[in-house]
Amino acid sequence: MSDLLCLERVTAGYAADIDVLRNLSLTVPAGKITGLIGLNGAGKSTLMKTICGFLRPKTGAIRFDGADITGIEPHALIRRGISCIPQESSLFPYLSVEHNLRLPLEALVHARPGLPRAEAARRLDEALEEFPALGAKLKSPAGDLSGGQQKMLEFAKAHVVRPRLCLIDEPSIGLAPKIAGEVYQWIRLFSAGGMGILLVDHNVRRVVNMAEYIYVLSLGEVTAQGRRSDFAGNLHEQVRAWLGVNF
Ligand SMILES: Nc1ncnc2c1ncn2[C@@H]1O[C@H](COP(=O)(O)OP(=O)(O)OP(=O)(O)O)[C@@H](O)[C@H]1O
Ligand SMILES: [Mg+2]
Repeated sequence: MSDLLCLERVTAGYAADIDVLRNLSLTVPAGKITGLIGLNGAGKSTLMKTICGFLRPKTGAIRFDGADITGIEPHALIRRGISCIPQESSLFPYLSVEHNLRLPLEALVHARPGLPRAEAARRLDEALEEFPALGAKLKSPAGDLSGGQQKMLEFAKAHVVRPRLCLIDEPSIGLAPKIAGEVYQWIRLFSAGGMGILLVDHNVRRVVNMAEYIYVLSLGEVTAQGRRSDFAGNLHEQVRAWLGVNF
């Protein structure tokens, strides 16, 4: 299967003289889950922000479905089919759940060529079928929802735009184990629908269980990579060695 996303020797950072990502190359195929693991501060979220257009690479190139998307702004990337569920919340806390769901759809309706309004309404209904707990909270401010419900709204927001690639950063952090289990089911649902997924998660075992291919990031560099089967066996020892640290 051809690669949906391709990073070629990308260097990026927040200050001119400090590179957080260094010469980083990776690929994400369509319809599969690709995992990214690494210690705190390794640059995982920075990589997500760079792919989503919030940070412009200093050098290197990012290609999506064969097209060069290096330096393209986030709103334009959403229209091309790239969505992000960030580590921090992307919700508008004072707007209702419904309003939070309608905003990305409105952006698609007004895009050129735009999404037909009837299709936007259908997608909203479908999101409420997939995530029924949101239906009862439709008029509540998003900020009043529980942590798990807010995460559900983040996934529903991504679902309505039908992205081809979804970047998911630490989706289960701070959630109770039962809710975290639901989150991973939603990720599988996205993947089963044909979406390419780049998944960042502290839970290494979970990433290895879910992802077909895994990258290990250390200090902004890919220090190891392999298929799920390569990570089988003594996971702890192997990951420790690959990250090059004791923990
Ligand atoms: N907005 C910012 N401005 C300046 N430096 C930043 C900014 N965000 C992150 N950094 C720095 O970039 C480096 C990588 O941070 P990043 O958040 O990408 O790591 P991470 O792998 O996602 O870590 P975590 O596992 O804690 O989420 C760190 O040294 C961090 O301090
Ligand atoms: Mg992070």
